[in-house]
Amino acid sequence: MTTRHFLTLLDLEPTELHQIIHRAIALKKSPNLRGESLKNKTLAMFFEKSSTRTRVSFEVAMNQLGGSALFLSPSDTQLGRGESIEDSAKVISRMVDVITIRTFEHEKLQRFAEHSRVPVINALTDGYHPCQLLADMQTFFEHRGDIAGKTVAWIGDGYNMCQSYINAAKQFDFTLNIACPEGFDPDAQLLAENADRVHIVRDPVAAVKDASLVTTDVWASMGQEEEQRIRREKFQPYQVTRQLMAEAAPDALFMHCLPAHRGEEVSAEVLDAPDSVVWDEAENRLHAQMALLEFLCAD
Ligand code: CP
Ligand code: NVA
Repeated sequence: MTTRHFLTLLDLEPTELHQIIHRAIALKKSPNLRGESLKNKTLAMFFEKSSTRTRVSFEVAMNQLGGSALFLSPSDTQLGRGESIEDSAKVISRMVDVITIRTFEHEKLQRFAEHSRVPVINALTDGYHPCQLLADMQTFFEHRGDIAGKTVAWIGDGYNMCQSYINAAKQFDFTLNIACPEGFDPDAQLLAENADRVHIVRDPVAAVKDASLVTTDVWASMGQEEEQRIRREKFQPYQVTRQLMAEAAPDALFMHCLPAHRGEEVSAEVLDAPDSVVWDEAENRLHAQMALLEFLCAD
């Protein structure tokens, strides 16, 4: 059987993604369903960027499923001293059962996966953050039911999270309106491939019209720290405020992958409002990844 990886949402069929979401919801409701499906299995976690949610949720997920996790950073592996991606993938995948990687170039993750004998999971690259989308979709399903046919508004940078929302629009069958400043658009080819359901709207008010979900992300992502000042200027009109939420559908939810900067991409009152589901969304990283790990590696 060929090894299944999870580098983007497109690596799984829509039915498989829905199966994972429903399993995640069940695992959250009934912890006794967990069993020990990953007993004696090991997850290796490479992180070349900081993380709170992704690291903690993967490690706890492995523990709760009876397995264990190993945290690896560039400063304490040979990968950080120039051992090639290909060689590292060949070696590590002979010792562990599943690998998760947070890195910069998406292409680096793809190269690692090509040489791995075991499933590789994207824990965030400059291109995509598919694990976050599993949690976001789970959160929407829990609060509002199926997202198919709904409208989602993305406000802000057309970067990794936005690009994962584009893939989610395809796999979960919703319309995505993107309000981003010129020069911060998602990948042109990705947009062209999804032109039937993904629209660059620019104006945040127009983007949130009829939206059942409004979501955003930091203005300067990891690796873009020197652009912080210029980005703060360009993105100023893209803050999600109470006034903007009032233009969305009456039952619209607010989501943010976190960490958030209150007063930048989102006002404090929106982040802390009752229709903000960001804490459920963060918790669901754990449940969704448990379901993903089971799907990819349980016997
Ligand atoms: N949302 C998310 O991936 O958070 P971390 O960077 O803390 O893992
Ligand atoms: N876009 C952000 C997401 C963090 C979870 C980043 O890449 O830093």
